[in-house]
Amino acid sequence: MLHIDNLTKYYNKKQIFKDLTFSVEKGEIIGLVGENGAGKSTLLSILATLQTPSAGTLTLNDLSYDSDWKKIRKQIGYVPQEIAIWDEFTVRENMLFFEKLSWVKKNEEELRQLCLEMKLDQWNEPAHTLSGGMKRKLNMAISLIHDPTIILLDEPTVGIDLKSKKEIGSYMEKQAKTDEKTIIYISHDMDEIKSLCTRIICIGQDSFYKNLLQNAGKNVLVF
Ligand SMILES: Nc1ncnc2c1ncn2[C@@H]1O[C@H](COP(=O)(O)OP(=O)(O)OP(=O)(O)O)[C@@H](O)[C@H]1O
Ligand SMILES: [Mg+2]
Repeated sequence: MLHIDNLTKYYNKKQIFKDLTFSVEKGEIIGLVGENGAGKSTLLSILATLQTPSAGTLTLNDLSYDSDWKKIRKQIGYVPQEIAIWDEFTVRENMLFFEKLSWVKKNEEELRQLCLEMKLDQWNEPAHTLSGGMKRKLNMAISLIHDPTIILLDEPTVGIDLKSKKEIGSYMEKQAKTDEKTIIYISHDMDEIKSLCTRIICIGQDSFYKNLLQNAGKNVLVF
């Protein structure tokens, strides 16, 4: 479904990664791991069509990232590493605002339900009064308004307590299993990666993560 073929990225002359080749099927949860600066966020933003690779090809359901990026973008839900919400708006106002920008329309009840499914129930609270974890949940709910088929999450559970982590994890599993969504997500929490992911992409030649995950019996691809 998503094919990544010989993907290479340079910033100026600095090589970030080279010749990444892998495919991702519907309903898979793929973990993206590697040390700080390895290029995980760069890869995710390329998959989100926000940056272009230096070389290589990407296709999603036979659509090319070069020529069909507008169609592809409609299928992608992306949560960046930095939280991007309107702090002065309430949860409700944030959801209504982003719904206006969405190509899939949802009514207020559906938007509220989206938040509740993620155990975010402060509907009328201003976003700046939410905890860091709740802001992340709001950011994730916003990225799902247009019913994307691929969900790209850049460290969605950083700074989140164990209970909320489990809630986000179960939500991701439900999205993948029941709705056949594809999820690619970055995390530094190896316990979480081990429990949620079907396969793991490790960027960077440092063997620390690879060994850790392979010893736990996980399918790891290293680039
Ligand atoms: N716009 C940019 N211009 C030049 N270099 C960049 C740019 N964005 C990122 N880099 C560099 O590319 C490398 C990979 O960065 P990236 O943010 O993808 O790493 P990461 O694996 O997500 O790290 P972290 O775990 O710290 O989030 C780093 O060396 C970073 O300094
Ligand atoms: Mg990053």
